[in-house]
Amino acid sequence: TVIILDFGGKYAQMVARRVREAQVYCELLPYSTSLEKILEKQPKAIILAGGPMSVYSENAPFCDENIFRSDIPVLAIGYGMQLMLKTFGAKIEASGSWESGVSELIIDMPKGLFQGIDGKITVVMDSGDLPSSLPEEFEVLAHTKKTQFAAIGNGKNLYGIQFHPEESLTQCGREILNNFLFGIAKCSGTWSTKAFIEEQVNLIKEKVGDKKAICALSGGIDSSVSAVLVHKAIGDNLTCIFVDHGLMRKNEPEQVIKTFRDKFHMNLIAINASKRFLDKLKGVTDPEMKRKIVGEEFIRVFEEEASKLGKIDFLVQGTIYPDIIESVNPIAGAVKSHHNVGGLPENVNFELIEPLKELFKDEVRKIGLELGIPEEIVYRHPFPGPGLGVRVLGEVTEEKLNIVREADFIVTDEIKKAGLYRELWQAFAILPNIQSVGVTADKRTYKHTIAVRAIISEDAMTAEWAKLPHDLLDRISKRITSEVEDANRVVYDITSKPPATIEWE
Ligand code: XMP
Repeated sequence: TVIILDFGGKYAQMVARRVREAQVYCELLPYSTSLEKILEKQPKAIILAGGPMSVYSENAPFCDENIFRSDIPVLAIGYGMQLMLKTFGAKIEASGSWESGVSELIIDMPKGLFQGIDGKITVVMDSGDLPSSLPEEFEVLAHTKKTQFAAIGNGKNLYGIQFHPEESLTQCGREILNNFLFGIAKCSGTWSTKAFIEEQVNLIKEKVGDKKAICALSGGIDSSVSAVLVHKAIGDNLTCIFVDHGLMRKNEPEQVIKTFRDKFHMNLIAINASKRFLDKLKGVTDPEMKRKIVGEEFIRVFEEEASKLGKIDFLVQGTIYPDIIESVNPIAGAVKSHHNVGGLPENVNFELIEPLKELFKDEVRKIGLELGIPEEIVYRHPFPGPGLGVRVLGEVTEEKLNIVREADFIVTDEIKKAGLYRELWQAFAILPNIQSVGVTADKRTYKHTIAVRAIISEDAMTAEWAKLPHDLLDRISKRITSEVEDANRVVYDITSKPPATIEWE
């Protein structure tokens, strides 16, 4: 294991991905974790992932200084390096000489961290306030024109760098990280999807034995991969319940049934409960209310079905790593933890099986492909629990659902044909519940407006609206207005998150 200390921002998650890409298992912990706690994980190395602060600033977050006194290899990036130098008595003052953006790094010691890398490379710098001289334990490994101590080491286990090796714009970033992981920390690099599947299958077999498990299968990637993995371990002792709330995308229910029942031969109970959900949603316009109704009704249907199955001991959930990592905010000093909103009650008497809870999304995808799950499911865009119910603004009716479902299908279809589907985090249609005047074949019409939203994002916390090519938008617009009977106008949402959220409700 490699431990990555999170000082806020996106740095730690980015570093973690790179480490996992090198097939080394790693975990993220909040910056304040004590060395004692870290040692329980028996780490081969510790990485301090950098952060948005300066050690000079008030409320600067500190890590356990003992980390620098243990003999575990430490790579301290950016802010982490300032902490390390401060621990060794360097006087750090606000010099105002910050260097950020792309710079040329001149390598002074082409060995150790820079083994095999000679001369000059381009790096993404993030140097904060640094001391004017180094504590005597340290030597300079690389510098830039502006930053004298761009990379330092103590000749033993401590390394500090003022650039981001995890950034794709940093040349040889991967090599530098690998030099640290394999050359210095002697990690083995054996963490792979195949090994993961094998290990999980054995663990689940052992845990469940001859008992029974159920899974709420939504057709989304996380629940699909979890279900297939558990099925591989315990076969027919797993029953999956798929609740079709009538708010799914086009062809989705059929595809779920085809894939899991026909291809994987899993025990699948598919419930078409659209009428129940639509009845409950009748007359309801408040977005939060709609969400609550769908959530509660989902639990009700699920419980009814589960209770018909006799004694069940385990519940499979598609929780993934980003759902449970404590997000660190050193500025507010608060540590908030996320929980997977699977829509299931907390007070059920099941023991949980969460085989993906240590994985990032891209790793879940790799496992999914390895397990033979169709690419269409593996790369499908995220979809909210209340489904199209929150994409029809105001009251949800079957008629409106059909309009938005058809429009959504066209948006997705054209984006796939343009080869842009995987580059986007999400792309979908919304029915804003506005009608406007139009003209078709010389006749006045008064029909619905469809809004199209396409966004680029890494984790849905922030998102940018996608600058889709005009000719693609034109094709989408022409198809929607000609193929969707009740639509005569198409608009494109050009708002990022923040200030807008991704979904409209
Ligand atoms: P917002 O609209 O908050 O959405 O910017 C962020 C991401 O979360 C998805 N989303 C949901 N996912 N249950 C889910 O599982 C929900 O109730 C839900 N609401 C929003 C949304 O599609 C986006 O990817």
